[in-house]
Amino acid sequence: MESVVLSLGGSILISQKNPEAFLGDLCALLEKVSSEVNLYVVVGGGWIARYYITQGRAKGLSEHELDLLGIGATRMNSRLLTAVLGSKLSNQHIPESVEAMVQLSGGGSDRDSDGSSGVRSNKIPIKVMGGTEPGHTTDAVSAMLLESVGGTRLINATSVNGVYNRDPNIHSDAVHLPELTHERMVQIAQGGGSGAGPHIVFDPTGAKILQRLQIPLYVVKGWDLTALENALLGKDFDGSIVID
Ligand code: UTP
Repeated sequence: MESVVLSLGGSILISQKNPEAFLGDLCALLEKVSSEVNLYVVVGGGWIARYYITQGRAKGLSEHELDLLGIGATRMNSRLLTAVLGSKLSNQHIPESVEAMVQLSGGGSDRDSDGSSGVRSNKIPIKVMGGTEPGHTTDAVSAMLLESVGGTRLINATSVNGVYNRDPNIHSDAVHLPELTHERMVQIAQGGGSGAGPHIVFDPTGAKILQRLQIPLYVVKGWDLTALENALLGKDFDGSIVID
């Protein structure tokens, strides 16, 4: 079974549109997909993290302290997801490091010595964590986890249906890029600003890790559960693919 990492935006999990119905549908989808791939989920902090970061910044907290607030939100969101999934499907304790997450899945990489993805029996079908330490976002955590478990693709479920040449929420003439290189993705990610709580489609640290690994990144609108399912299963999907 191949290993796949999902970077689930906190704003997707805590959808402001119809939160209770969406969370149930999302959990049903994750359960279905987990019978076909070895599934790892890293949950973001979303608007809850941004709320705390904005309040803290207004009161003069350091970037380190703001990052810690953001990490707290990612772990709270993670716990909500695992509580709804239940103990048969997911871990009920949220690992605080990539190493602890790997241990949760029974130890080392799923990648065999020849580089192919090996078969591993995982007792926990859906393994869930949030942030780890200050200085990056959960996108970077997802890329680090992907490397540690020998995953074959990273899915970023975010609020836009893929990567644009510039922020589509600000620029009405932004162009959707259905396929782009890792080099271009790194350029776009680096243009997104720094500090706690940036608004970027994918974290630059994570983009650089994927560029080094040469492992594809699929960017999908997380509320589109058909696109999300297809991306998780490696099928054609509506979104962007970062490759080569
Ligand atoms: P997110 O991972 O949620 O940021 O972390 P994001 O990707 O911008 O937001 P969504 O969820 O996809 O909408 C929120 C904040 O928490 C801190 C950072 O300040 C980050 O911006 N954080 C998170 C860390 O410092 N370290 C981590 O490992 C994770």
